[in-house]
Amino acid sequence: MKKKIAIINGVNLNLLGKREPDIYGNAAFEPYFEKLQKRYENQAELVYFQHNVEGELVNYLQNIGFEYDAIIFNAGAYTHTSIALRDCIAAIKTPVLEVHISNVHAREAFRHHSYLSAVCVGGIFGLGFKGYDLGIQYFLERE
Ligand code: DQA
Repeated sequence: MKKKIAIINGVNLNLLGKREPDIYGNAAFEPYFEKLQKRYENQAELVYFQHNVEGELVNYLQNIGFEYDAIIFNAGAYTHTSIALRDCIAAIKTPVLEVHISNVHAREAFRHHSYLSAVCVGGIFGLGFKGYDLGIQYFLERE
């Protein structure tokens, strides 16, 4: 059976491709997501959700978090601020992998702390969009 995997991007990540290209690159996320969908079409049912509003991210996590097999989540700046998202990840059943495009530990000190890491299965940072791909591979191989 195909695994149901959701990729969720949070605040300001709709601007990928236009936003600080030195840090986040020149490419929008949607075309990359379509490539991932094609690449894994035989193994995974991949869906993508992006929202800028913290509560909408909570709503979406709650909606899929008792049904999906895996969630790959880049919360953007909410990573460093949101107890609500942390509590939500702790509350749902679906395992969540934390992803960051940039190397947050090589950047400003306020990016070094994540409220989410402790309730996630693990994390990938600094590998660009590839982090999402590696996250899918991890969940496909995981029992
Ligand atoms: C980010 C890192 C965060 O610190 C930042 O606020 C983002 C993007 C990343 O993917 O590198 O918006 O999550």
